[in-house]
Amino acid sequence: MFGSLRSKLIASYLIVIFLSLALAGSGFTYLVRAYQTQLRLNQLGDLSLPLTFQLRRFERAGASPLEIDQFLRDQASQLHVRLILVNSQHQITHDTGTTLLGQYLPAPSDQRTRSAITLEWGRLEPPGEQPLTFVIVESGGDRDGAHPAPDDLALAVPEQSVSSAWLQMAPGLTGAAILAVIISIAVALWLARSIAGPLGQVTRASEQMARGDFEQFIPVGSHDEVGQLATSFNTMAREVGRMHQTMRDLLANVSHDLRTPLTSIEGFAQAMTDGTIKTPDEYADAARIIGEEADRMRRLVEDLLYLSKIESGQIPIQRKSLQLPDLLQACVRQVQPQASHAGLSVEFVAAPVPAVMADGHRLQQVFVNLLDNAVKHTPSGGIVQVRAYSDVSQTSDLDAARARRKSAPGWVAVEVHNPGSHIPPEHINRIFERFYRVDRSRSDDSSGLGLAIVREIVQAHDGRVTVKSDAATGTTFTVYLPSAA
Ligand SMILES: Nc1ncnc2c1ncn2[C@@H]1O[C@H](COP(=O)(O)OP(=O)(O)O)[C@@H](O)[C@H]1O
Ligand SMILES: [Mg+2]
Repeated sequence: MFGSLRSKLIASYLIVIFLSLALAGSGFTYLVRAYQTQLRLNQLGDLSLPLTFQLRRFERAGASPLEIDQFLRDQASQLHVRLILVNSQHQITHDTGTTLLGQYLPAPSDQRTRSAITLEWGRLEPPGEQPLTFVIVESGGDRDGAHPAPDDLALAVPEQSVSSAWLQMAPGLTGAAILAVIISIAVALWLARSIAGPLGQVTRASEQMARGDFEQFIPVGSHDEVGQLATSFNTMAREVGRMHQTMRDLLANVSHDLRTPLTSIEGFAQAMTDGTIKTPDEYADAARIIGEEADRMRRLVEDLLYLSKIESGQIPIQRKSLQLPDLLQACVRQVQPQASHAGLSVEFVAAPVPAVMADGHRLQQVFVNLLDNAVKHTPSGGIVQVRAYSDVSQTSDLDAARARRKSAPGWVAVEVHNPGSHIPPEHINRIFERFYRVDRSRSDDSSGLGLAIVREIVQAHDGRVTVKSDAATGTTFTVYLPSAA
């Protein structure tokens, strides 16, 4: 029955509502009851005073007992009370209800002085009748026995009418309680819905995602915990969707990039079997091409494996204090043959920079990748420039200066610049993605993984890599690394 969060919430709200109403109600009833009882007793007291005075006046005027009896009867029926006279021995001498004649008035149980007159209250139990509550004006000091003291007047009403005086308020109280219950139940339902509703949405959206529909969005209606849950869910759904898309792209790219060399190898194998390739020279040529294609596939697979290993942190970065100029010179030497072959020169502008804490082997991969790209994209006769600096003022590049100032102090930057190539703005943000190539037709030995590897390694060193490119000056990649100091 209480399977859902919603019904649990409603049930607990209802329990709380009824408990607090019961507590507040009984406390309130208790107070109202005491107050109403007191009010009724005071009313009786207020009535008894003028009646007593009137009686005295009557007696003094020499009214006959019959007249007095008539007077008391009239008053009793008008005021809906029972009037009793008691003599100085507290014996009842007159009773408009008659059954109490001759009995003694019990001692009062309570007394109160109001404006110099003391009123006394007590309880009477006439035989065969409902108990009565009476009030009497305490007789003053004139009962001295010299004159026979006049009888005292007592007002009596059924005890029930005093103790249940508060019941007059009961309908009002019940109405208020019912209204309170209705309003609180409405609020409870609304609260339960506002909590359970979004949770249900999250559940449904998760189920949809499990079925492969990643386009999930939950409207965020508030900033509380429930709203935060919806926001986090939306973020997660977006991320999962993005990762799923990346995975699909990756598969598509890998299969596409493997298909070309495989087709080529298959073609040569076919040509060898059906005798299209006959001479030893043709065999040697085919074998060389097959070797190259296999090498290309091996590099692609290795790069991919390497990337995923870096990404998942499986390749440890062994940091050592490292002099960047030495490392950069080694990298330049490595690409020199390729550059000379393309008719370019590579220039290294040395400047004293602080050491960095880095893995030399990985950093070499970074700069060789950048230099390889630069050499590939520089027209013949161009000069590829590499320079390292640590001082903001040394760079002419304002953006880089700003970026450096924003980052923590103690950074070393390495710029790899080549003239004659321009990466259009619509591509520049994407070139660090896996398999992203600006010019897809250049299928030489380009995999589109080089810059992805560069970025992963630099980030593993807590560094950043940026790129700037314009048609006039060419393309500049800048790697920022935290210095060792
Ligand atoms: N120096 C450069 N000048 C112009 N374009 C570049 C330069 N470096 C990289 N690119 C572009 O970025 C793409 C991605 O580079 P990279 O990840 O190294 O892949 P690859 O070199 O295998 O093509 C390249 O295909 C090229 O279009
Ligand atoms: Mg490359």
